[in-house]
Amino acid sequence: MKILVIGSGGREHALVWKIAQSPLVEKVYCAPGNPGIGTIAENVPIKVEDLTGLLAFARKESIDLTVVGPELPLSLGVVDLFEEYGLKIFGARKNAAIIEASKAFSKDLMKKYHVPTAAYEVFTEVGPAVDFIDKIGIPIVIKADGLAAGKGVIIAGTRDEAVAAVTDMLSGNAFGTAGSRVVIEEFLKGEEASFLAFTDGKNIIPLASAQDHKAVYDGDTGPNTGGMGAYSPAPVVTPSIHEKAMEEVMRRTVDGMAAEGRPYRGVLYAGLMIDGENVKTLEFNARFGDPECQPLLMRMKSDIVPVLMAVADKDISKVQIEWHDQAAVCVVMAAQGYPGDYAKGDTIAGLDEAAKVDDLYVFHAGTSRTEGSFVTSGGRVLGVTALGTTVKDAIDRAYRGVALISWPGAHYRLDIGKKAICR
Ligand code: AMP
Ligand code: GLY
Repeated sequence: MKILVIGSGGREHALVWKIAQSPLVEKVYCAPGNPGIGTIAENVPIKVEDLTGLLAFARKESIDLTVVGPELPLSLGVVDLFEEYGLKIFGARKNAAIIEASKAFSKDLMKKYHVPTAAYEVFTEVGPAVDFIDKIGIPIVIKADGLAAGKGVIIAGTRDEAVAAVTDMLSGNAFGTAGSRVVIEEFLKGEEASFLAFTDGKNIIPLASAQDHKAVYDGDTGPNTGGMGAYSPAPVVTPSIHEKAMEEVMRRTVDGMAAEGRPYRGVLYAGLMIDGENVKTLEFNARFGDPECQPLLMRMKSDIVPVLMAVADKDISKVQIEWHDQAAVCVVMAAQGYPGDYAKGDTIAGLDEAAKVDDLYVFHAGTSRTEGSFVTSGGRVLGVTALGTTVKDAIDRAYRGVALISWPGAHYRLDIGKKAICR
């Protein structure tokens, strides 16, 4: 089988790494990929938003299955286009990917189908938005409606901050058209978890539990990022929380999307806030989490290709997924300045030494290649991911890998996975 993966981050490196292990697969391409991916697959220089370029490539190479990593091509309709031409593709159609592309849509869906979530309202004008802020009080959460690369959420601790955030977003200064509508919602406390499931629009198969670390600094301080590290399993997802997440979040959402005439196929990612026995949904994503995908796929024992193919074929009723008992931890190493403006072009040392550590894999997220060495080229540069008998073992091994790798200004959190141990 020939497989094409769309994307260029750590998530796509993990997908390619897992897919390439399948005995069903003879060749993996990645568009556009990255130099780490290039060591195990063939990169093709087509951008993720170049839908006609991707389609032409898949047709020319007789690709048997295309797997979409990021949200942008999904929300542009890459799945609709490929299916129109009779090509197999894993991912949500445009009218379903809206669950991530519009926060107003996903909040309204949750309300309509009784999916537990924070109380909210949607605004397009500053005046009524400020009235609502005054009604709810602070802290309060302000969200740009559209895609903002994980940065469109402001948790305002003062009224001034809240008013400035809505004014900025609604005037188009922050996030352009993505901010022309805002969702304002109640602040929820608790511990977050990433709950992912494969679905064919009817059947739902959960992945193992996972937890991300969104804030840039230790102890969940500093601004939010795309994710500074992740681990699996996440003990905050107890068996009873798992059951609630399946019934009240996943089942209602998948059925709700079907009832709306927007059948959801692909991987559905619910960001959950867990407070005791209470589960609420913060958001949905129409794709694998990044970096959650890295530890999840290291723990997946089953071949992923039949699973992805069954989703593309719209029937996962016979699919079963087995997981390794081991835990996995991914520590993201980021460039100086991230999540703000960051440095690029620094030479990365120690990758060969890290590659010698057993049960450890370094996924590339933002690297490029010059004269034989790898250099930094993105905010999140590497995802150093390790297996261990326990979360603690996996943490120790991942940080052993991190200690071997360096470049000027590299930074990473020192407490990835700590919440699991504290439990
Ligand atoms: P979202 O993109 O909606 O998941 O928001 C990004 C991050 O902001 C989440 O992972 C949470 O850390 C935080 N967040 C979002 N909504 C809320 C809320 N209602 N209460 C508390 N924190 C929130
Ligand atoms: N790691 C969070 C996300 O992928 O949205």
